[in-house]
Amino acid sequence: MSRRGEILQEMGLAPVWRLRTGVAQESEILRMDWAQLKAKVAGCTDCKLRAGCSRTVFGVGDEKAQWMLVGEAPGSEEDRLGEPFVGQAGKLLDNMLAAISLDRGKGVYIANVLKCRPPGNRNPEPDEVAKCAPHLQRQIELMRPKLILAMGRFAAQALLGTDATIASLRGKVHQYAGVPLVVTYHPAYLLRNLPDKSKAWADLVFARKTIAEENRGQSPIS
Ligand code: URA
Repeated sequence: MSRRGEILQEMGLAPVWRLRTGVAQESEILRMDWAQLKAKVAGCTDCKLRAGCSRTVFGVGDEKAQWMLVGEAPGSEEDRLGEPFVGQAGKLLDNMLAAISLDRGKGVYIANVLKCRPPGNRNPEPDEVAKCAPHLQRQIELMRPKLILAMGRFAAQALLGTDATIASLRGKVHQYAGVPLVVTYHPAYLLRNLPDKSKAWADLVFARKTIAEENRGQSPIS
């Protein structure tokens, strides 16, 4: 800890000082352009995850796309290749996208809440989500997608600031900073629970209908 930190801690002010530093850093992130944000994430050591992963995984796809898909965090394949959803769950996701004539290179952007792989694919911890959330927030602001598809509990809960279940969040149009948001199951969950694939398909169709209504200028259904 710096001398300034030690003095502030002795005075009982360290938490306030840390909080302020966090807020300053966050507002800096929220002013970045794409290039600055990519560089910030590539060099990020804001939480403990970077020390244990091979590389950061920023996001992939069309930065002007109408669809933005948000998952949880990179897994081992994503950590190896530096791209979101390239493992088994990613293959399922690609197939589902193809079924509605979309692919990761065209019309879709894919990102995660966390940009670094949690060790052993454990669940993200609250401090990691808090530190990394401004990166995703800025990606969304820069993109201004027509719709966010939150895949899985962590993405839905982090974006909506709720601890509600996926089951209770599905089938409605939520809002994230003025962008319509639809919740669905995580593709990795679907690999383990095949009967729920039909529900995820219904969610995709619902999301596609929501985008179509947005494009026609109708207010989203909730
Ligand atoms: N699971 C996720 O949530 N994201 C990925 O990129 C891969 C697996």
